[in-house]
Amino acid sequence: MDFLELAKARYSVRKFTDRPVEQEKLDKIIEAGRVAPTAKNLQPQRVYIMKSEDAMAKMNSLTPCIYGAPMALLFCYNEEEAWHNPQTAGYNSGEMDATIVATHMILEAWEQGIASCWVGVFDHDQAAEVFALPAEIKPVAIMPLGYAAEDAVPAPRHTEYRPVGDLFIEL
Ligand SMILES: Cc1cc2nc3c(=O)[nH]c(=O)nc-3n(C[C@H](O)[C@H](O)[C@H](O)COP(=O)(O)O)c2cc1C
Repeated sequence: MDFLELAKARYSVRKFTDRPVEQEKLDKIIEAGRVAPTAKNLQPQRVYIMKSEDAMAKMNSLTPCIYGAPMALLFCYNEEEAWHNPQTAGYNSGEMDATIVATHMILEAWEQGIASCWVGVFDHDQAAEVFALPAEIKPVAIMPLGYAAEDAVPAPRHTEYRPVGDLFIEL
């Protein structure tokens, strides 16, 4: 599958089986996140890999969007390590870096036959508290990972894309 085919084939899976993700596949997904670009290559991302019963119970308590997946990732960044833009007060690249990493991983996962869903509906402060994260580690996104259930289907709006001209403006 070429890249565009992969990008078009991926969809947010909201029904998983309990089949575990093989370590070999997870290693490739991790490697895709390791090599993602970050501002000044500072690599402030911290990705917590949740597999244990205890960690997954906590993830399920944080969001209704784990969808039965056997494992999940919590994407964070280290605010002290992120690039602070000297030209824009108060701005740092951490959230952007972590989301680029997550995007690399979501696409490599699909390449490996592993489904996922980007999850934003959770309380960031609660996530930090539940996992006793150090103050400089900021949660960004949750991502259940696993095998799609046989009857998993894309949401009806999955293929509703706005026209190119609305989104890409040539100046
Ligand atoms: C920042 C962000 C937050 C999202 N939060 C959630 C969420 O909390 N729960 C959920 O089921 N899907 C969530 N999604 C998935 C989107 O709804 C989904 O990507 C979008 O509808 C397009 O569908 P597709 O991924 O199947 O192409 C989120 C996606 C993004 C990018």
